[in-house]
Amino acid sequence: MTKPNLAVDVAGIRMKNPVTTASGTFGFGSEYAPFVDLNRLGAIVVKGTTLLPRQGNPLPRIVETPAGILNAIGLQNPGVNHFIEVALPYLRQFDLPVIVNIAGDTVEDYATLAARLDEVPGVAGLEVNISCPNVKKGGLAFGADPDSAAAVVRAVKGATRLPVVVKLSPNVTSIVRLAEAVVEAGADALSMINTLLGMAIDIRRRRPALANVMGGLSGPAIRPVAVRAVWQVYQALKVPIVGMGGIVTAEDALEFIMAGATAVAVGTANFINPRATTDIIEGIERFLVEEGVSDIQELIGAAHM
Ligand SMILES: Cc1cc2nc3c(=O)[nH]c(=O)nc-3n(C[C@H](O)[C@H](O)[C@H](O)COP(=O)(O)O)c2cc1C
Repeated sequence: MTKPNLAVDVAGIRMKNPVTTASGTFGFGSEYAPFVDLNRLGAIVVKGTTLLPRQGNPLPRIVETPAGILNAIGLQNPGVNHFIEVALPYLRQFDLPVIVNIAGDTVEDYATLAARLDEVPGVAGLEVNISCPNVKKGGLAFGADPDSAAAVVRAVKGATRLPVVVKLSPNVTSIVRLAEAVVEAGADALSMINTLLGMAIDIRRRRPALANVMGGLSGPAIRPVAVRAVWQVYQALKVPIVGMGGIVTAEDALEFIMAGATAVAVGTANFINPRATTDIIEGIERFLVEEGVSDIQELIGAAHM
């Protein structure tokens, strides 16, 4: 059999294969370049970027749990100007779409960021984080309420011509309601899921293990929740989905694709195996060959019958 076609298109973002990185787990790419040929990735989603640099939350802000980690980084990042001046020129050496994850404290912050990034060449799309559980203002305050979420999306869409991917939180009663609200407001694609709000206690200190008390749970522990969310939203809406949450192997990624994801993002697995992304791309290709599938499109949503 000739090589299967792995290329996908997420709302106009053309990817040579369906595998991207999950924001916040791959920095701006340079840390992973010694391990991974970035040209092989379908796309890169960079660390959450805000208008001004942010220090993030106090330490400790990562705790290991049996099948994942809890993090309360709090969107530490060097700010959008640093991204444009330093990180983006570095990434532009590579042949891959750069998707910028943006976050703000107000609707205006999101719109200003979108307008700023619209001016610079080399950005393929925006991922709008309205779902971070670790920041007091913004973050989940927008992502948990359909009206506020829609207001952010409308403001971003009004400020950019780039494809807009909206990142949803699982920490809501109905992720389908949120998805409907942001698609109605103009979202071109959805990514899901962000972390699940969780907590751990250090029993010797008799105190919460994270300085921030609560944090976001990621890794294999959340995969069934994430696959369910992708399944439900695919069933309800016709919009491209980037699926993520606990993907470690190619088999995990294929679960998301069959649930309805057009592309997948690898997050916590990068901390365990820095080559996780490329291992997963190779595994998907092997699976297609073994199953006699010539094009990945045949598998998108294939579990819905
Ligand atoms: C350390 C860490 C930092 C993260 N930072 C961000 C971020 O800046 N913006 C964002 O939208 N999501 C962020 N996330 C969420 C991930 O992008 C992803 O949605 C989540 O971890 C689920 O995928 P996983 O189980 O494969 O890690 C972060 C996750 C981790 C573990």
